Amino acid sequence: MKFCIVLSTRPEIIKLASLIKIFKKKKENFFLVNTNQHYTKIMSKVFFNYFNIPKPKYNINANSSSYISFFSKSLKEIGNILTKEKPNYLIVQGDTNTALAGCLAGSIYNRQHLDNKKVKIVHVESGLRSFDEKMPEEINRKIIDILSDILFVPTKFDMNNLKNENLLKNKKILKSGNTITDVVKSNLNLLNKNNILKKFKLKKRDYFLATLHRPETVDNSINFKKIIYTFNKISNLYKKKIIFPVHPRTEKILKKFKRKLNKNIIITNPLEYIDFLFLMKNCRIVFTDSGGIQEESSILGIPCITTRTSTERQITVKSKVNIMTGYDKKKIISAVRKFYDIKIKKLNLFGDGRVAEKIYKFLKK
Ligand code: UD1
Ligand code: UDP
Repeated sequence: MKFCIVLSTRPEIIKLASLIKIFKKKKENFFLVNTNQHYTKIMSKVFFNYFNIPKPKYNINANSSSYISFFSKSLKEIGNILTKEKPNYLIVQGDTNTALAGCLAGSIYNRQHLDNKKVKIVHVESGLRSFDEKMPEEINRKIIDILSDILFVPTKFDMNNLKNENLLKNKKILKSGNTITDVVKSNLNLLNKNNILKKFKLKKRDYFLATLHRPETVDNSINFKKIIYTFNKISNLYKKKIIFPVHPRTEKILKKFKRKLNKNIIITNPLEYIDFLFLMKNCRIVFTDSGGIQEESSILGIPCITTRTSTERQITVKSKVNIMTGYDKKKIISAVRKFYDIKIKKLNLFGDGRVAEKIYKFLKK
């Protein structure tokens, strides 16, 4: 049995790490294809190294400066790789352009082959829906779920989405949990040795953490301005630092605002996984538009404020560990007030930290 894994972006590397670890341990015949959608060292190589992920056998230089050229180049090259390697399974994770390119290349490849020569397309983290088709990821997720043969669905909530779209027929489906629980669980033991708090001169529970990278937040100057000014206001009101590791998409835009930022807003490069996890585990509240961070904060029992108008992680909102505020200053500040002094329970709906093991067993069966 031969597996092809197509990946590239930071969250894909993180969330596929535990499955790749099992493939390595079991000496499975597998190879990686990196589209290089994420190409900066601190968004890519650092994570490959940290999680001990083998070097991709194929590197497609399809970086994302133009989406048309990204898709045309990656589709063509993944198609050639499939023709040469003839894997039995093609695995993609989540909802990025890389995941869509991998899945679509597999599906087009299959049109030229008889049933027994087809590659089975596997979607890890299937069924998530924000019901907001303005997000490219929402379109990606839907297409990937339609085209995939095997779906690994994190929660019953996501399973319902698939059911409502009539997508349960003619597919193999497992409610597996989310592999992020494997990663958080296995890294929690390593957190004691961390000294990132010292680096930023922080005390536990005495600072906020923030990340922003969605186009609708950062490429829209009105929304971005609103959030940045709200961060200023919050750090003044509470006299606390906001640690803000900046995604490359956000970096250029932030330059325009830097002078207007309060000195308590600490801008930094994207952080390594273990440093970021440690900061998240010990902060008061996390502000984010990230998908993965909504999950991780709820697993760690840290309140999350999601500065978006829709989320595919609605389960965290329903469970009251995440408040979705959009870009509105009043809503963000009121959410901070609500979360500031309370302890929230850790959410265990995303899985038990042994999700990759379940996925592996299911694939082998
Ligand atoms: C992508 C995913 C998003 C995911 C995010 C994880 C899509 C449509 N979006 O968004 O779902 O949440 O990754 O972080 O696939 N850039 C660099 N270096 C890098 C990566 C990006 O400089 O390593 C810059 C480039 O200017 C690039 C821009 O960021 O044009 C946006 O990158 P892109 O991969 O298109 O989207 P992300 O915002 O990273
Ligand atoms: N992350 C990290 N360093 C950072 C910011 C985030 O390691 O400076 C991790 C975070 O813990 C989570 C993942 O990156 O596991 C989330 O990635 P991102 O927000 O880029 O993508 P999304 O989850 O929104 O697709």
